Amino acid sequence: MNPPARYLVTSALPYANGPLHIGHLAGAYLPADAYVRFLRISGKDVVYVCGSDEHGAAISIKALKEGTTPQAIVDKYHVLLRDAFQDMGISFDIYHRTSEQIHHETSQDFFRTLYKNDSFVELENEQYYDEEAQQFLADRYIIGTCPNCQHPDAYGDQCENCGSTLSPTELINPRSTISGSTPTLRKTKHWYLPLEDHEDWLRTFILDGVLDGDQHHAPDEWKKHVLGQCKSWLDAGLQPRAITRDLTWGVDVPQEIDGSEGKKLYVWMDAPIGYISATKAWAAEKGRDWEPYWKDEETALIHFIGKDNIVFHCLIFPVLLKSYAGGYVLPHNVPANQFVNLEGQKVSTSRGWAVWIHEYLQDFPERQDELRYYGYKIMPEQRDSDFTWKGFQEATNNELVNNLANFIHRVLVLSNKYYNGVVPVFDESISINAPQESGLPTWHDSELLDLFDKLHEYRQYMKSFDFRNALKVLMDVSSTGNQLLQLNEPWKMEKTDPDTVKVVMNLGLQYVTALSVVIRPFLPFASGRLRTMLNLPAIREDGEFVDLMDALSEGKHLIAGGHKIGKAKHLFTKIKDEEIEAQVNKLQGDEKEVAPDKNGVSLKDTANFDDFTKLDLRTGTIVHAEKVENADKLLKLTVDLGFEKRTVVSGIAKSYEPEGLPGQEIVLVANLAPRKIRGVMSQGMILMAENEEGKLGFVSPPKGWTKGDIVR
Ligand code: 2FM
Ligand code: ZN
Repeated sequence: MNPPARYLVTSALPYANGPLHIGHLAGAYLPADAYVRFLRISGKDVVYVCGSDEHGAAISIKALKEGTTPQAIVDKYHVLLRDAFQDMGISFDIYHRTSEQIHHETSQDFFRTLYKNDSFVELENEQYYDEEAQQFLADRYIIGTCPNCQHPDAYGDQCENCGSTLSPTELINPRSTISGSTPTLRKTKHWYLPLEDHEDWLRTFILDGVLDGDQHHAPDEWKKHVLGQCKSWLDAGLQPRAITRDLTWGVDVPQEIDGSEGKKLYVWMDAPIGYISATKAWAAEKGRDWEPYWKDEETALIHFIGKDNIVFHCLIFPVLLKSYAGGYVLPHNVPANQFVNLEGQKVSTSRGWAVWIHEYLQDFPERQDELRYYGYKIMPEQRDSDFTWKGFQEATNNELVNNLANFIHRVLVLSNKYYNGVVPVFDESISINAPQESGLPTWHDSELLDLFDKLHEYRQYMKSFDFRNALKVLMDVSSTGNQLLQLNEPWKMEKTDPDTVKVVMNLGLQYVTALSVVIRPFLPFASGRLRTMLNLPAIREDGEFVDLMDALSEGKHLIAGGHKIGKAKHLFTKIKDEEIEAQVNKLQGDEKEVAPDKNGVSLKDTANFDDFTKLDLRTGTIVHAEKVENADKLLKLTVDLGFEKRTVVSGIAKSYEPEGLPGQEIVLVANLAPRKIRGVMSQGMILMAENEEGKLGFVSPPKGWTKGDIVR
């Protein structure tokens, strides 16, 4: 495996049926943007493509709901998405759209080629049909109860509640989203991709990184959760996947093919091909050749996506590419992210529980990098994470302002004050207090070598898609810079020992210059402002990091003695409590009302099936009960689960006397983390129902059930 000669990086094409929110941004766009900017400052050949996904039932349904056409919907949201990405500094080489002719042609060419080389099977089966609307109901045109989690509004292709992939006929009580009527089954013919025929090579490719007998990528480079998801698909046995639909909106199945009438490509066939058509459009615009980016084996193809897109990018798209037999490369890595929650709840666009990027930018027009920074800090690289407005404020104020901006400001202010902004030339032999000890000849040199080591670490993290840790290294560099000033106190020493202060300030300026380059992938706007303050050329993202590392390794300075810097400005400023409160209020105001129950309590946010299965509920019997000292609501209970006895502290003393409790059958949450309550370690929680007067009653197992039975 040689290092790649070039990179083709993609971010998931967002559906053009709604605006961009923080979950999207942190999931598939911020990581990709940091990665491509890093590749560019590392002098690599990279093309970064994206665009609007303008087909699929989700778009037509939105049009139906709004009484308009799919075209009007995609035209509106394409612009909104494009502008939001641009305003946040997401540096696509092209932001394309799948309604463009070149995309229709490219995806039809794929269909035609796969059709001709017998990569499809044609199958007739029964599908739901809406008699009122006179159309077949594919994917999101049909909803019903999820067979896995009982969610009442699961779609025909997926349950968004438990994440399971469904087919329409699995839904319980299916209904049409067009007319609301109960659909009937009708026969229809479609083309299918026989995924089961590809299982063997997919398994070797994904799980071992071996393709056609050669090591294609190191398998441990892929994220564990991505491999895990692929493995469970493969282990469950792959099934034929329909790649056409009976729809009116989408890419036509090529007309010359028998039976093509009324058939469109399945959106998940055409959308990933959108990466190829976007690259073609980019190449045409720039007078470049698109083919090496897709067909040269030295190209690394990297897909940034959210976890719900894993199967399409790791299994289906590779099958399409390989079946085409045109020499297309397969993904080198698919660094999918998990999901970002918001203030402890799932982002829900229908409930208005989201931070919309275009609205954020209206409220904080100059604070793109603050949101980017927080997005990287909470990036859901391995597990779901949580966006909180308080966390956003703290990250900005404590880290960007108090650490990074403060260090830079102090160095620039003092340099302007002592040397009129001219980078001081200093006596190399002077040794002064250093944050780190070293045996190297001069302290200044050794500090720069230490900087080199840190930036090497940063490089390793960036290469392995660990953006959170890479950013942490940069904040450490800034902390070291702050320590440097704190330990040497140039403001005290300037009068007594100006020669030593020159060494300190020169070093500070080297650090600041290095930061202006390496923060670029994460904080491009701040990097630009900093380069202006330093009076250095703007970063063109053209190998600057290579030059920087070369200079450091050769002991050269990054900013020359005698160079005149500009005025100091604050790179970041604090966010006030009022600004955060306004956002929290807005979020709560935006949240759509959920009907309260008879006690005036609204239902909690949806827990998904996985959340529920984490709980281990067991039947048991209370064998002993006593009051807890100085706590008039609490009883200390001993619960027999049959296989063991537990001590449980329960807040039921107002409803029950301890004497009457032995023998009471209960249901216990048996795997709740133990918690100390009033000095007693409580090992579980008893399920109680509460009535309108606040009285508690036991939820008991049916008569005759034995202790330790599982409740689910
Ligand atoms: O999940 C989604 O939002 C899809 N529109 C992503 C498509 S990614 C790619 F294949 F185009
Ligand atoms: Zn479900």
